[in-house]
Amino acid sequence: MPASKRILLIIGGGIAAYKSLELIRRLQDRGALVTPVLTRAGEEFVTPLSVSGLAGQKVYRDLFDLGDEAEMGHIQLSRSADLVVVAPATADLMGKMANGLANDLASTLLMATDTPVLIAPAMNVRMWQHPAMQRNLVQLRADGIRVVGPNDGSMACGEFGPGRMAEPMEIIAAIDAALAEGPLRGRRVLVTSGPTHEPIDPVRYIANRSSGSQGTAVARALAGLGAEVVFVTGPADVPPPEGVQVVRVQTAQQMAEAVHDALPVDAGVFAAAVADWRVASASDRKLKKTRDGMPKLEFAENPDILASVSRMTRGRPGLVVGFAAETDDVLDNATAKRLRKGCDWIVANDVSPATGIMGGSENAVVLISDKGAETWPRMDKDAVARRLADRIAQALGASN
Ligand code: CTP
Repeated sequence: MPASKRILLIIGGGIAAYKSLELIRRLQDRGALVTPVLTRAGEEFVTPLSVSGLAGQKVYRDLFDLGDEAEMGHIQLSRSADLVVVAPATADLMGKMANGLANDLASTLLMATDTPVLIAPAMNVRMWQHPAMQRNLVQLRADGIRVVGPNDGSMACGEFGPGRMAEPMEIIAAIDAALAEGPLRGRRVLVTSGPTHEPIDPVRYIANRSSGSQGTAVARALAGLGAEVVFVTGPADVPPPEGVQVVRVQTAQQMAEAVHDALPVDAGVFAAAVADWRVASASDRKLKKTRDGMPKLEFAENPDILASVSRMTRGRPGLVVGFAAETDDVLDNATAKRLRKGCDWIVANDVSPATGIMGGSENAVVLISDKGAETWPRMDKDAVARRLADRIAQALGASN
């Protein structure tokens, strides 16, 4: 993060508010100036004194505090920052934001601001999963609000699931990404990556040799150009990049669900090696050797995630990019695949074992679009990713 960035931090009323104290410390370590705002409910969880003490600044609490208006009006306060961060973002605050309500200082600032906003939701798992909450989330994303987390985990209320606020360092990474300058600033991009694991029984699964390195490199390159990246990854060998929102899945069906949950996006890059088939009825008990011979595995076809997004009639990403890993007739197969799946571009590569591409550090690709096929020289996967990210930035820039 560049030093002396100004962060307006709105602390909502949730048990996770204590983590926001840590967040203030970490932001200050990095030279940021934090102006804190505490909601009425937030005051039930952390004290104004501890917030202002840590921030080294006055904490703003009340819309009708005339002293504040004299020093700085709420409109000015809302625009005095490089980024507004809401952590924890409660269901109440998110509901107000999604519906344009402004009845206290925090919600008024959020309505009046013209700077980018990042929220770190925190709430009970049932509240998070409630259709009203998910509706609000779609609206907030469509309004350009960035979201970090929530994470899965055990919650203060004793339940388990999504709803835990992202950790301070994850919020910092999201802040870095939000403040990153670049041609994709303000753009939301989805990347799928890695293999999927399709269970046979609780201990066995069907997988493929994808390491996730190309998808990871693409996500990193897009974030480097300032995009907000949602990274949906199967169990990959390489760690996910910093500064992206990571959604971990195991199966193709989970990946399909996570992808549709992440929409709307400006562009989608589908680099995952999704298993085409799953075991139709995976056993919930370990299959044992018996005298009756081998188990018979029946397969069912997995949803085609790329095709389903490409064919959306409403809310389709402006640019949909697929990958085609082929071992024979690469160009013909990939050209046909682009038309069959309905995506805009296909990044085709030859993954025959002799090329060493699958699991290796280099890639040799052909970019296929409606304008034809463009062969790129063999280069390392990071370089392929940067070149692809540049092309995506150009395409989205041109569509403005
Ligand atoms: N893909 C997907 N969902 C699937 C299968 C594939 O999203 N169920 C995406 C991949 O992420 C990739 C593209 O589709 O971007 C092509 O994947 P590939 O495995 O090469 O294509 P297949 O659909 O398996 O076609 P084929 O069997 O002809 O190779």
